[in-house]
Amino acid sequence: MTDLADDLILEGAPAGFGLPAGCHALTVTEVQHYTDRLFRFRVTRPASFRFRSGEFVMIGLPNAERPVMRAYSIASPAWDETLEFYSIKVAEGPLTEHLQKIRVGDTVLMRKKATGTLVLDALKPGKRLWMLSTGTGIAPFASLIRDPDTYERFEQVILCHGCREVAELAYGQEIVEATKNDPLVGEYAADRLHLYNATTREAYPVQGRITDLITSGAASKALNLPMISPADDRVMICGSMAMLNDCRDICLNSGLEEGANNRPAEFVVEKAFVD
Ligand code: A2P
Repeated sequence: MTDLADDLILEGAPAGFGLPAGCHALTVTEVQHYTDRLFRFRVTRPASFRFRSGEFVMIGLPNAERPVMRAYSIASPAWDETLEFYSIKVAEGPLTEHLQKIRVGDTVLMRKKATGTLVLDALKPGKRLWMLSTGTGIAPFASLIRDPDTYERFEQVILCHGCREVAELAYGQEIVEATKNDPLVGEYAADRLHLYNATTREAYPVQGRITDLITSGAASKALNLPMISPADDRVMICGSMAMLNDCRDICLNSGLEEGANNRPAEFVVEKAFVD
């Protein structure tokens, strides 16, 4: 197995341990900490690596012969030259305990194959795309809102992001602001991308769980949009297991059917994998 791609990935290979089979060794180019629980980082993108906006990959650190690998949604769009990830920091987390300490120039491992259900192809055409997220579940949507394809398929894109505290909303707010000013998608996003933020444990203009705000009609009212319906609305969901179950119920109760890559329908679900 010595094709060109394998030769290239050995370039940044970690010292001490061999590069695990099927992995790229990537170099960290940027790290930004938001809170003591959240940070984002960018890494170099291998020339051979392809993915669809919204997909996830397995990543890890070159700190063991058989390193711990965890699923991370790619937060940058498919056209981007580097790859972005948004991560939680868990003190005793098998990966994030170490990952939170990375610096520019360090090596991160990434398996070669990207996959996932939060892709545009898993949804039937519709008028509006609702993206429901909590915590780091915003990551796949940070990718999709920066993809021109999203605006080709949907007239309106509504990114709902719920967090415990105000500071945890910053990443999403920055991405949305940057997207609206982006030369590639800004023209579409400026009027058609809407951000709906809420907190649950700190005072903020909108308070409550995203699920409650949608069910009560408060979100639709604030956005001046009708309630979610199978005729016009498509939904993507990413968050904790409990949040996914509650959002799935909302979709099913609204008459939407769950889709998959090989069977597009009206909503899709993915767990935000974190520890
Ligand atoms: P809460 O503060 O009421 O638990 P976390 O950081 O634990 O992943 O939570 C992120 C956000 O998701 C918090 O605002 C949290 O609210 C909210 N949340 C937790 N469980 C659910 C759920 N089942 N449905 C909707 N939101 C949820």
